[in-house]
Amino acid sequence: MMKLAILPGDGIGPEIVAQAVKVLNALNLDLSMTEAPIGGAGYEAAGDPLPDATLQLALDSDAVLLGAVGDWKYDKLERHLRPERGLLRIRKALNLFANLRPALLYPELAGASTLKPEVVSGLDIMIVRELTGDIYFGQPRGISTLPNGEREGINTMRYCESEIRRIGRVAFDIAMKRRQPGQKAKVCSVDKANVLETTELWRQVMIELSAEYPEVELSHMYVDNAAMQLIRAPKQFDVMVTGNIFGDILSDEASMLTGSIGMLPSASLDENNKGMYEPSHGSAPDIAGKNIANPLATILSAAMMLRYTFNDEANAVRIENAVKKALAQGYRTADIVTDGCKQVACSEMGDAVVAAL
Ligand code: IPM
Ligand code: MG
Repeated sequence: MMKLAILPGDGIGPEIVAQAVKVLNALNLDLSMTEAPIGGAGYEAAGDPLPDATLQLALDSDAVLLGAVGDWKYDKLERHLRPERGLLRIRKALNLFANLRPALLYPELAGASTLKPEVVSGLDIMIVRELTGDIYFGQPRGISTLPNGEREGINTMRYCESEIRRIGRVAFDIAMKRRQPGQKAKVCSVDKANVLETTELWRQVMIELSAEYPEVELSHMYVDNAAMQLIRAPKQFDVMVTGNIFGDILSDEASMLTGSIGMLPSASLDENNKGMYEPSHGSAPDIAGKNIANPLATILSAAMMLRYTFNDEANAVRIENAVKKALAQGYRTADIVTDGCKQVACSEMGDAVVAAL
């Protein structure tokens, strides 16, 4: 039996995770699920955004399904008690260095994007974001007071070779798997090698690594240009690989190409494909508890979990097809609704996906 840790978290987390659990239950898998608090919910339950018991449960499980963390009401807490710290700590503790964020446009939603349909139709990008290094974790960091009394904030961007190489491998391997007949596998590595030494090294290591992948066409792009190209001509991209901070920003941008960030799942994997699965979006406290959030990113994250950690491609595809069917039937949550569609609540969207299974 596979063990799954369910960490609903804050804001809309509990309501969207409940829909994914409903879908998993409908598949009758040999799966045990145990719930635990994280983020603000962890702070409320145990005074810690990542309570020991939650971390232990995650360590003992084969995979983790997470909702989202964060709420404005915790913004005044000391930094180490804030919900986001719980998320960063669990990523680090589980060594989840490879964050996969697909940006896939469902044809039914072409009208929901702010870009012209012809620019985004058929879009299928995989952003591979390094998740346990970079300026997110580099030392020294902090806010201190200089001798002249002025305050100074410091963060440190750093990557060592092995960290770059292992995320590079993930990207090259995925590009090979995604290759369509008659097409070349492509990886675009995003850096700021014209200014930042950390990413100059990043580029060098990617070039070295590419020698082992002659079938893959490697290109490089500065992050500012990549941000522009994603809006100008997003279909030029297949797999993009980049560091933690650039990946954070570009994946939010890429999500909007698909109409709504409410559609995008993600997987965060360690070296053995143990993973944590979560929607790419946040906790949206402004709409929490109203049953209007879009649960599809979380449901699609459960599909990624079946694919990457449980090696159950058949059921992963079943979930993805059920989502497509629910969309084709016209069901839409508020964030993706367009004229002529049927606007439904979060839980109704979950029901529609279960019915479509
Ligand atoms: C994300 C989020 C997190 C990040 C925050 C909540 C710490 O924006 O998963 O993209 O910056 O990684
Ligand atoms: Mg982000």
